[in-house]
Amino acid sequence: MNCTWLKSAVFYEIYPNSFMDSNGDGYGDFKGITGKLDYIKSLGCNAIWLNPHYDSPFMDGGYDVRDYFKVSERFGTEEDFDEFIKTAHAKGMKVILDLVPGHTSEQNADFLKSAEPTENELSDRFIWTRGEWDFPQGFKAISGRHNRKGNYIVNFYSTQPSLNYGFNRVDDPSWQMSYKSDAAKKTREWLKGVMRFWLDRGCDGFRVDMADSLVKNDGEQGEKPATSEVWKDIRAMLDKEYPDTVLVSEWSNAQSIRAGFHADFMLDHHGNPYNLLVRGEEEPDVYSYFDINGRGDAGKFAQGFCEWYDKIKDDGYFALISCNHDTPRLAPNYTHEQLKLIYSTLFTLPGVPFIYYGDEIGMKYIKDLPSVECGFARTGSRTPMQWDMTKNAGFSNAERTFLPTEIDKAVNVVAQLKDKKSLLNFIKELLAFRKSRAEFTSRDFEVAHAKGGEPLVYRRGGLICVVNPLKVKQSVPVVVNPKAPVLFNIGKAAKPKKTGLDVAPLSFTVFESK
Ligand code: GLC
Ligand code: CA
Repeated sequence: MNCTWLKSAVFYEIYPNSFMDSNGDGYGDFKGITGKLDYIKSLGCNAIWLNPHYDSPFMDGGYDVRDYFKVSERFGTEEDFDEFIKTAHAKGMKVILDLVPGHTSEQNADFLKSAEPTENELSDRFIWTRGEWDFPQGFKAISGRHNRKGNYIVNFYSTQPSLNYGFNRVDDPSWQMSYKSDAAKKTREWLKGVMRFWLDRGCDGFRVDMADSLVKNDGEQGEKPATSEVWKDIRAMLDKEYPDTVLVSEWSNAQSIRAGFHADFMLDHHGNPYNLLVRGEEEPDVYSYFDINGRGDAGKFAQGFCEWYDKIKDDGYFALISCNHDTPRLAPNYTHEQLKLIYSTLFTLPGVPFIYYGDEIGMKYIKDLPSVECGFARTGSRTPMQWDMTKNAGFSNAERTFLPTEIDKAVNVVAQLKDKKSLLNFIKELLAFRKSRAEFTSRDFEVAHAKGGEPLVYRRGGLICVVNPLKVKQSVPVVVNPKAPVLFNIGKAAKPKKTGLDVAPLSFTVFESK
């Protein structure tokens, strides 16, 4: 099987603007990242997901790509990028890049060519209506920006014109092309070219932005048969030409694995298992299982998680995140003690762990920051990495940094390295433990107890994991051999009794039961 490296991968997500500034201009850069690879490795991470590094006007944090074949000067030179990849590989680490297939920047040269009033070879590379007064329902169309007769459809913000991968259901053939049309197929070939370019530069795969957004009118929610066909075709190319390349989708649906992705992010979408586990507080009517007042429901989480897992487990993986550049950080909603329980649970469930930079030290979501580069509410999760107590928390020498830096005597790398009980040192222990047991990277998973705010108990092969998210002692009717060794615990280890387990407040225990 190809891509075997994914099975034991532990990713660290880097938002390049915010990680480490090597030249004092206030923005993070490739050299800064390269200099910190040993730090990332020391956590127990062996792979990196780098957010967009391409030339961009940054109207959506780099997800508006101006030139797909060039790095952003903000982050350094082409050589700096190559050096980053080379150094990561020399340290035994993999790097996946962010692929933005659905839309370009409005400043992308192909788009500007497509926008010319006279017909040319790129006229159909983007999606244009026929007339300048056409505003088709269900689409966001931008008018009056270019001299081409017609409006163009955008995929996300108005600065991000949709590339034309065609339509599955063609309602109006005067401007909608089939996804099987030559024009749509040419876009697909162009995308393959982008992928080959970066694979030849040494990357090991891609995190695929809005992977389900390519073909328009492609069924309701999730399934997306034509978009799946496109990805299957791309996956076939990769299997043939770059067989060890990993594709991780932003799709959050079992269909993505059927479409050829190796892993798929379980995102913070309304009421999904990830929210029911840790992110309920972001929605008015949902509580997460880790809610300290016990208003969450392990049963609901387990049901959704298992149903979804059954659909993907033979062919792919969940990508399980501590957070990402789009979601609020879990701190300060949770204390470091709770975060230890949450990370332990998340990363002993079946899936590939993704740690967002700074989550290993419990960096806080910063509320009410003015939006920068159209981050809006997401801006508060993108503040610079907190390395130490020096100027700009050791991130940069600049007078002004990309976003304000938080100086926090407890939440920085240097302080936490010194403190044995810190979240940072805990993450290292957790990842080392995870790595030491093949059960955690196997497909074996079974829920033994999941009910309301009671302890959640699950088996990974011969291991039994027990978590109590509440401040009170609880019992569960899961019988464990009293001689079963405790391999790992936070707080007091759960105690096997004749009728079940006594589980200490705010605790996590792993037994080996044979
Ligand atoms: C994805 C990215 C997000 C971006 C959007 C548009 O959701 O994660 O940051 O704004 O796509 O590309
Ligand atoms: Ca810099």
